[in-house]
Amino acid sequence: MKSFAPKFVWFDGRYVRDSEANVSVMTHAIHYGTSVFEGLRGYWNSKNLNIFRLEDHVKRFRNSGKVYSITLRFTDRQISDAITALCRKNNARQSCYIRPFYFVGRYGINLHVTEKSPTHAAIVMFPFGDLFNRNGISAGISSWRRINDSSTPPLAKMGGNYLNSILATQEGKRNGYDEAILLDHLGNISEAPGENIFLVRDGKMITPPSSSSALEGITRSSVIEIARDLGYDTVEREIPRTEIYFSDEVFLTGTAAEITPITSVDGKPVGNGKAGRITQKIRNVYSDIAMGRNKKYSRWITPVY
Ligand SMILES: Cc1ncc(COP(=O)(O)O)c(C=O)c1O
Repeated sequence: MKSFAPKFVWFDGRYVRDSEANVSVMTHAIHYGTSVFEGLRGYWNSKNLNIFRLEDHVKRFRNSGKVYSITLRFTDRQISDAITALCRKNNARQSCYIRPFYFVGRYGINLHVTEKSPTHAAIVMFPFGDLFNRNGISAGISSWRRINDSSTPPLAKMGGNYLNSILATQEGKRNGYDEAILLDHLGNISEAPGENIFLVRDGKMITPPSSSSALEGITRSSVIEIARDLGYDTVEREIPRTEIYFSDEVFLTGTAAEITPITSVDGKPVGNGKAGRITQKIRNVYSDIAMGRNKKYSRWITPVY
């Protein structure tokens, strides 16, 4: 299928060409990482483009900035309307990734960021397919620990947080793994560089709580709800590293990664070394919802057209 080339981006309330959305080299966010972002998916089902959990993403978008007093100068309604309108402006008729962000603009070298500091907001989008191999990926535990709430709050989705994710990803790739898994500051399982993690043991699902430095993932909460409806309860609790080697199934969740089975950790096969049965069941329901084929969860879907 031919990729659509998005002509427009949204920048501070206007739809402009990418080349017209410019900022100064004095932009604070470039120097200090003072940016907030979200990632959403639009699913094309040959009739419409469905944005997955639009309102929940916009809510987290605003909440992240509050932690650092970085102001989003648009209402939630304006942001969600801009997201759907940008898709229409670009005539997006293919599954895509949508990236809204806001950041501190020209503010010198001043570290005293307040609600009054100047900010810009933008939304970009592009065609997007699978991030990972759907049949399963290998993962390795990183020697880098996940950032934690006593220094750099992982629950706020800030640009700067991803330096930690980059270190873990680089190490994972260097060691031949598809993806890294980070432990929290206490040595318990936290999350992957851009995904939450779930374990399945004896038919029961387990995922680290946000106190283990795991992002309050929107796919994570969707999976917990889908699993409950399928008869699998999820326990949110601290997970010692060793438990991952005892698991029957392990999978990652995230907007980009969707639901990705992990078939080996540190070179050891997970379960029978193939995508797990429960993982696949949940993924099938998730795909149906995203494609607009499951009426029960239609509240999670915003059609663009
Ligand atoms: C660090 C991190 N954890 C987890 C996730 C998964 O969150 P969500 O399901 O809301 O995309 C993401 C992606 O946004 C992430 O960057």
